[in-house]
Amino acid sequence: MKFQVPRGTRDILPPDSDRWAEIEDQARRILGSYGYREVRTPIFEATELFVRSVGESTDIVRKELYTFEDRKGRSLTLRPEGTAPLVRAYLESPALRQETPARLCYLGPMFRYERPQAGRYRQFWQIGAELLGSKEPSADAEMIDLLVSIMRAVGLPNVKVLLNSLGDAACRPVYRERVRDYFGRHLDRLCEDDRERWKTNPLRILDCKIPACQPILAEAPSVLDALCDDCRAHFAAVQEALRALGIDAEVAPRLVRGLDYYTRTVFEVHAANLGAQSAVGGGGRYDQLVQELGGPETPSIGFSIGTDRLHTAAGGSRPGGALAAPDAFVVARQPEAASEALIVARALRGVQDPGEVRPLRVLTDVQGRSASSQMKVASRVGAKHVVFVPRDAGGFAVRDMVAGKDEMKQPDLDALRIWLRAHRAAGGESR
Ligand code: HAM
Repeated sequence: MKFQVPRGTRDILPPDSDRWAEIEDQARRILGSYGYREVRTPIFEATELFVRSVGESTDIVRKELYTFEDRKGRSLTLRPEGTAPLVRAYLESPALRQETPARLCYLGPMFRYERPQAGRYRQFWQIGAELLGSKEPSADAEMIDLLVSIMRAVGLPNVKVLLNSLGDAACRPVYRERVRDYFGRHLDRLCEDDRERWKTNPLRILDCKIPACQPILAEAPSVLDALCDDCRAHFAAVQEALRALGIDAEVAPRLVRGLDYYTRTVFEVHAANLGAQSAVGGGGRYDQLVQELGGPETPSIGFSIGTDRLHTAAGGSRPGGALAAPDAFVVARQPEAASEALIVARALRGVQDPGEVRPLRVLTDVQGRSASSQMKVASRVGAKHVVFVPRDAGGFAVRDMVAGKDEMKQPDLDALRIWLRAHRAAGGESR
């Protein structure tokens, strides 16, 4: 029997995995600099959590959940997104609620049973940030600024930011009825999916991508004309703050997003080189969600970035990738020196020093090859230096593999390690 990776999933292999780790490191650095702290929630949750938050009538809940019963008959679901789990954790943990607002983030896999295509997977990764406990427009602006800063840090300075407001409990229902009325008059010119949406979630029709539906969508009432005074003022203040931050955001009155918990501000960032699945990230305000999940009034806002798409948009991986040439390869001259090679290699890496943040990359043969075969391997993997064991009376013999010449002997391990550090392979960030 031959096994294959499940449909809609993939293995992230080197050198892509190196670049992924680099992207996640960069994102963590930026998140940390904005004061966000990481929360790692379980990969599965009670199904009801997603039904209540993401919304019963959304595509995600209706047809994309990976739901199963555990041995005690509890209904569990692989998380399709990270916001609801984070809010659940927030409500369970007094420590997280100590600071207002709470700035929390997460990185990890999400699961949606979608039709696989380029940029759309059944297991995909997100980098998400949530700011819980502020209703101020400055929170919205900081959030979008954070999103754009992460994009910049990974090499995407020119993403397009789309911005909209979906109103609140006061004005959204009025708008929803207006939209239902409007589309109700044009049902015969809409696709079947839209006719279905009309019954359950008419706002989602605005997001339809079918070309034949576009003329009807273009004439639909705009949410921006339906906002109440408070929502209008909030939206204007968010735009003003973004202008002050130098962030170009395009108002997109048909941006509705695929989750039901949003109120007021919603946004997406799109990258030009991603084709049909161009949204690298998206998010918005969810002023009612914490209450709906049983907590106190906690207006909040957040976003998630799709790491798969971010990796693609940022240009994928460099050939060869981040894993550069080893700094050294320890060659055992005789089979009896194999253990000494392990000991010397470990010492040279510096991994036993708890203060070492950038250990050297040092390899050694674990195949029992002859010394000359080990030299060939060292050369094939691009090792910058070869260190020979056992050491002799004068110390360790070292060969510079780039210049092809034997170096002066290094008298002991410490001297050798210092010397190798000084000659660290260019670009040889250890990972
Ligand atoms: P979302 O728009 O559903 O929002 O997902 C955010 C990002 O995840 C998308 O822009 C996309 O890059 C990526 N993504 C979504 N589905 C897939 C897929 N099947 N394959 C690859 N990438 C995908 C949320 O998930 C919200 N929780 C965002 C949020 C946080 N709102 C408030 N806080």
